[in-house]
Amino acid sequence: MLQLKTAGFKALDNLRMEGIFPPCWKNMAALETAANDSISQFLAERFRISQELGGAFLWPELIDRTLRTSETEYMDTESIPEWEKLELVKALDRQNTMMQLYPRYVELLIPLINEIAEHKKHDVRVLELACGAGGLTLALAEALRTKNLPASVTGSDIVPSYIEAGNALAAKKKLPASFRQLNAFELNSAGKGVFDLVVISQSLHHFTPGQLAIMIALASEHAASAFVGIDGYRSLLLACGVPLVAAMQGIMSFTLDGVTSARKFYTELELDMIAEIATGKRTHTVSCSWPLSILTVRF
Ligand SMILES: C[S@@+](CC[C@H](N)C(=O)[O-])C[C@H]1O[C@@H](n2cnc3c(N)ncnc32)[C@H](O)[C@@H]1O
Repeated sequence: MLQLKTAGFKALDNLRMEGIFPPCWKNMAALETAANDSISQFLAERFRISQELGGAFLWPELIDRTLRTSETEYMDTESIPEWEKLELVKALDRQNTMMQLYPRYVELLIPLINEIAEHKKHDVRVLELACGAGGLTLALAEALRTKNLPASVTGSDIVPSYIEAGNALAAKKKLPASFRQLNAFELNSAGKGVFDLVVISQSLHHFTPGQLAIMIALASEHAASAFVGIDGYRSLLLACGVPLVAAMQGIMSFTLDGVTSARKFYTELELDMIAEIATGKRTHTVSCSWPLSILTVRF
């Protein structure tokens, strides 16, 4: 219901016909502004078209506009102590485990890993951005071992205590994974050509369109072969369901983050536009594997 594809495609067509989409950019600062502006223009145009279409098209648009927020999740608030942040990403990790999301992410990534390995003729170096408690990196490491995948995996996040916790868990479980502190907007500091596949899960909505475009452009600049972003599917069902599932752990701030996050999930069209702005090409796909949206960008 909140994908609003009919009005969305019309809006995007109009922006293309007006010659304002896709925008040109010369550096990362310009890219960030261009992506933020384009998504704002798109949403304004989609609203205008929904008003023209009326009735069954306008109601979902109004619900979408009511739900949308740019609030920051509590777990990303700079002023809270790291131990509290760690508790919250651990709660998210428990939720992901309970919902059996990690095996699904791994299954989604395996064909791409095999494809890149075959093309590059070496093991695929996977980098997970914004890994939180590190559940996906560890699940991938487990799969590397059990399925003998041609890959290595590094988890990364901006919060140091997540990195410590991830490395401690990898050592305890004797898994072939390492964790390093990395700001997702400073992939440069990882070195050029160091990673082949850049992955980010359940975090796309924590970043603005401009920030996501920068991540994709940096992955491309660093000679990665592909970027994969996995996140919740923007829908009324998840807007209600995510907070309900989060509430099961009885942690108020985690439940409220569930409410905020589900209101921020991107539509498929927005992800599609962000990828096109970042690459200037259409070498990407956006698909739904319920309840997930999957953006795969090939460079
Ligand atoms: C919702 S959590 C997702 C964690 C993990 N991917 C998961 O599914 O459990 C969002 C993560 O984004 C991280 N983050 C926020 N800003 C970041 C940045 N600039 N660079 C890297 N990570 C960042 C946060 O520290 C947090 O771990």
